[in-house]
Amino acid sequence: MCGIVAATAQRDVAPLLIAGLKALEYRGYDSAGLAVLQEGEIRRVREKGKVREMESQYLADPFPGGTGIAHTRWATHGVPNKVNAHPHIAGHVALVHNGIIENYASLRSELESRGHAFTSETDTEVMAALIGERLASGKSLLDAVSSVVHELEGAYAIAVISDKEPGRVIGARRGAPLLVGVGIGENFLGSDAQALIQVTNRMIYLEEHDVVEITRDRVRIFGQHGEAVERTIHESELSTDAVERGEYRHYMQKEIFEQPRAVADTLEARIGPHGVLPNIFGVNGDELLGKTKGLHIIACGTSYHAGLVAKYWIEDYARLPVNVEVASEYRYREAVVPDGTLFVAISQSGETADTLAAMRESRRRGYLGTLAICNVPESSVVREADLKLMTRAGPEIGVASTKAFTTQLAALGLLALQLARHRGLDDARYADLTAQLQSLPKKIEKALELEPQIVDLAEHLIHRQHALFLGRGAQYPVAMEGALKLKEISYIHAEAYAAGELKHGPLALVDEDMPVIAVAPNGPLLDKLKSNLQEVRARGGELLVFADGAASMDGNAARGSILRIDGGGDFIAPAVFTVPMQLLAYHVAVLRGTDVDQPRNLAKSVTVE
Ligand code: G6P
Repeated sequence: MCGIVAATAQRDVAPLLIAGLKALEYRGYDSAGLAVLQEGEIRRVREKGKVREMESQYLADPFPGGTGIAHTRWATHGVPNKVNAHPHIAGHVALVHNGIIENYASLRSELESRGHAFTSETDTEVMAALIGERLASGKSLLDAVSSVVHELEGAYAIAVISDKEPGRVIGARRGAPLLVGVGIGENFLGSDAQALIQVTNRMIYLEEHDVVEITRDRVRIFGQHGEAVERTIHESELSTDAVERGEYRHYMQKEIFEQPRAVADTLEARIGPHGVLPNIFGVNGDELLGKTKGLHIIACGTSYHAGLVAKYWIEDYARLPVNVEVASEYRYREAVVPDGTLFVAISQSGETADTLAAMRESRRRGYLGTLAICNVPESSVVREADLKLMTRAGPEIGVASTKAFTTQLAALGLLALQLARHRGLDDARYADLTAQLQSLPKKIEKALELEPQIVDLAEHLIHRQHALFLGRGAQYPVAMEGALKLKEISYIHAEAYAAGELKHGPLALVDEDMPVIAVAPNGPLLDKLKSNLQEVRARGGELLVFADGAASMDGNAARGSILRIDGGGDFIAPAVFTVPMQLLAYHVAVLRGTDVDQPRNLAKSVTVE
């Protein structure tokens, strides 16, 4: 999704802005641009496509200057092209924006009736025009921005410069993230810490409705009513190494292989000799969990799949009812909230617009409390939740989520155990489940060793147009996640079904051209799944079965392949079986030559609705 970088410094800022944009590429975008104040004049370069294409344009005709703004755009209003790319200029103002202005059409007609001509189809240009008008009427840039943001409906993070006020950048946020990078004799704005870590590790996370003014030697922040406010400076622990690709061909591959460490970090110091520690939330969560009579889990995309796995665990081990729902649906319907229900938001980024809005909506629906399961400590979701359970995946750059998912499962595993203990699960089973969870990093490491065999399997899929994924029980959401990974990065159409649903429709699709990928559990449902696979085989479909090492699968893959995996036990098997699904999607995408880390049309952090 759109990324913002801005700087005011004594040195030339264009190289810093371009480096910042490159660090934001992971968010997904389709055009890029920057504007710099050069000797009292706004100079701008914009280009459709990658940051490096915009960079070569800039290098062909560079414009040094100490104040500038830059942007990667993920198209919402208007196609991805140069004219719609940011920054937008109106009068003496240049502006970049992340978000969606919902009342832009009426604002645009008002401006047109006053004679303003627009060059783009974007909602953003309306903001630039309004600020430009206020500036022309004699307001300062700070006052112009502050007054305009009050008239906007929707979500925004913006950075604005004016050739009338060199050396100054004004920023504002509502519903989209923006932070200040505090330097020495220079200051910055960025969409996230990754964009700024190359220039400073001192960050201020702006609050909703904040307006900020940065100059080289000062940062001033104003709250919703224009009052000066103080915000804490955080020392970011992010290292530039954490956002480097290292020896790996793609970030996605690096992140798949980081999973044993990321899961181990997520579990570290959270399990003691007698089980899960009460302070996994940073504070003692016993009181809230003790009162919990049910859970509503809300999330989007991959995080939603993690929630679906957790439903199986929590209902089975803690005997508590769990509803899991995508945030975009939940926020607009009147969900019934029984007494004692805990609201759980799962989000890697903590900035997903629908998840955040659902969490805010939940406040008026009478929940027991809110718990955020998240990877970014300073994110909006974490800041607004009552309890937080942090995954410790480190920065995830590949758009297709991998280590975020398995660390979410590790965190949800801790939650399930914690709830199970409150609900009196018997000691032997509790001890078995705890031991399984502790062995998860090792089991994932073992699953990663299957990469060479998965490369061979990937060859089978590269010329296919479609694929079906099947699973049962807690492996059903894993099949969903496998299908999502494949479609996201290889652009092969993939659907997941609970295997028992096969004969209720999708079986009609099965023929020699339809590969069927099955995640086989090793438990009471295995025989049922085997029957479902026979149904596929009888129709000539090609089977690709991921089976638990101990499971007997004989006779089921006459036309197909079986890959054996040590699932590590019924509890953690979904997390372990996810790994070959990720590797399969990754290698199919590599063989098909797609842009693995930044697949077309997708964004990493979806900060608009
Ligand atoms: C986007 C990403 C997905 C992610 C989803 C939810 O669609 O491309 O990978 O699962 O957003 O993101 P979140 O940060 O809330 O987990």
